[in-house]
Amino acid sequence: MTLFVAMIDGGAKWVLMSSAADRSADASLQLSKELEALTTSPFGPVSVRTALSDPSFLDEFAGTGLYVEAFNEYGKPVGKSTNLGNAELVTTGLARWKPQVSPPGVSWGLLVANGQRSLIDWQTIRSGNRPEATVYIMQSLGPMDAILRNFRIFVLGGLVIALCFIALASISLARAALGPIAEITRAAGEISGEDLAKRLNWKRRPDELGALAQTFDDMLGRLEAAFARERRFIADASHELKTPLTVINANAQMLSRWGAQDEDIMRESLATIKNESAAMARVINAMLTLAKTENPETLSLERVNLRELVSDVGSALRHTAAAKGIALNVEADVDAAVRGEFGLLRQLVTNLTENAIKFTDQGAVTLGVVKDNGAATLIVRDTGAGIPADAVPHIFERFYRADPARSRAVDGTGLGLAVVNSIVRVHHGRIHVVSELGQGTTFTVDLPSQEGLAQDQSSE
Ligand SMILES: Nc1ncnc2c1ncn2[C@@H]1O[C@H](COP(=O)(O)OP(=O)(O)OP(=O)(O)O)[C@@H](O)[C@H]1O
Ligand SMILES: [Mg+2]
Repeated sequence: MTLFVAMIDGGAKWVLMSSAADRSADASLQLSKELEALTTSPFGPVSVRTALSDPSFLDEFAGTGLYVEAFNEYGKPVGKSTNLGNAELVTTGLARWKPQVSPPGVSWGLLVANGQRSLIDWQTIRSGNRPEATVYIMQSLGPMDAILRNFRIFVLGGLVIALCFIALASISLARAALGPIAEITRAAGEISGEDLAKRLNWKRRPDELGALAQTFDDMLGRLEAAFARERRFIADASHELKTPLTVINANAQMLSRWGAQDEDIMRESLATIKNESAAMARVINAMLTLAKTENPETLSLERVNLRELVSDVGSALRHTAAAKGIALNVEADVDAAVRGEFGLLRQLVTNLTENAIKFTDQGAVTLGVVKDNGAATLIVRDTGAGIPADAVPHIFERFYRADPARSRAVDGTGLGLAVVNSIVRVHHGRIHVVSELGQGTTFTVDLPSQEGLAQDQSSE
């Protein structure tokens, strides 16, 4: 900034100074020519003295702020331009009369007297070696300095005003830019886990802040939905656990009252307690599995051969299927290695197979394993009732059971597929379902395969 002002100031000074210097140099040159003409005239020194004591001669070289004064060989004033009036040129600082040292020709100097600056030049007129007179020409720099002063005030004032303007504009711009952010901050501060219904609703703002607000609203929407899901889950889970507990409690009371006398009551009550506690255990196990899959780092991963796993689950559930008159086929003759937690993967295959048996009244359930391009695919196919199309998007939700009337007829809480889904997710797999009412359902699970299981196993 200072450099900028100094540059402008320097430029202005240079322009003004050179015009002042030009004027006085012109006058000085003119004077020196005329004096030379006079010196070389037949009357020589006489005509020079006469000319120098004649104000009208000296006036030729004077002008506004440009003064001329002549002195004799003794340093006494002999004539001056009329614009000097009664004043004398201040020549002290430049040795008023020193003919022996004054340089020949023009010798401009800068004189500062009484706070005023002037350009000054003097010429010595000689007759042979003898100095005859000295003529001083002075160009006052007062007007130029005044212009410069005003110019500086103007530049500095302009700069100060511009700076103030820039500062004010920056403040108002910053306010305009940061105001909405402050609003978002305030809104974010007001949001708590209990009240996620708040929205910024800046839909009509077309800029980046509008997009930010929209993203913020969307995030709130997702959070609200997630919180609602969690609340519903807790309510459903409590309900699922409370019902069997009530039944167990009632049967326990019945046992304590009549159990000793009535053997039938005792047998029925114990059977009910056994079933209900098993149902509770299933719910709690499912919840534990869901919690476990929320923390993938707690899994103990190992190589699991899907072919073996599927045969194993097939054998375990074959008699359940047979009890319903359904065949359970296993079509898995390729080793397909995946990396995962054995218990969770077994649970995944079991849940899908149990569903297939549960919702199939006739036909067969087929478990298959296919290996393809870096993926191991598990297929569970049945020839059962199928899932209504509008229910398909919901079957992986916790506690969701499609077709409640039919589902009520079979055991279950609606946690099985939620568990399957979370196991697939934690193993970086994908699951999808194809179902046709009355025809059957096929669940397909793709898991990243781990090649080289057979070799690894043999080397272990
Ligand atoms: N193979 C299938 N055929 C037809 N419907 C199915 C099949 N698998 C799942 N469903 C439907 O999806 C719903 C959710 O399945 P999920 O396994 O989560 O619950 P569930 O089997 O009813 O109970 P749980 O598995 O907790 O004992 C089932 O209630 C059923 O309506
Ligand atoms: Mg199930």
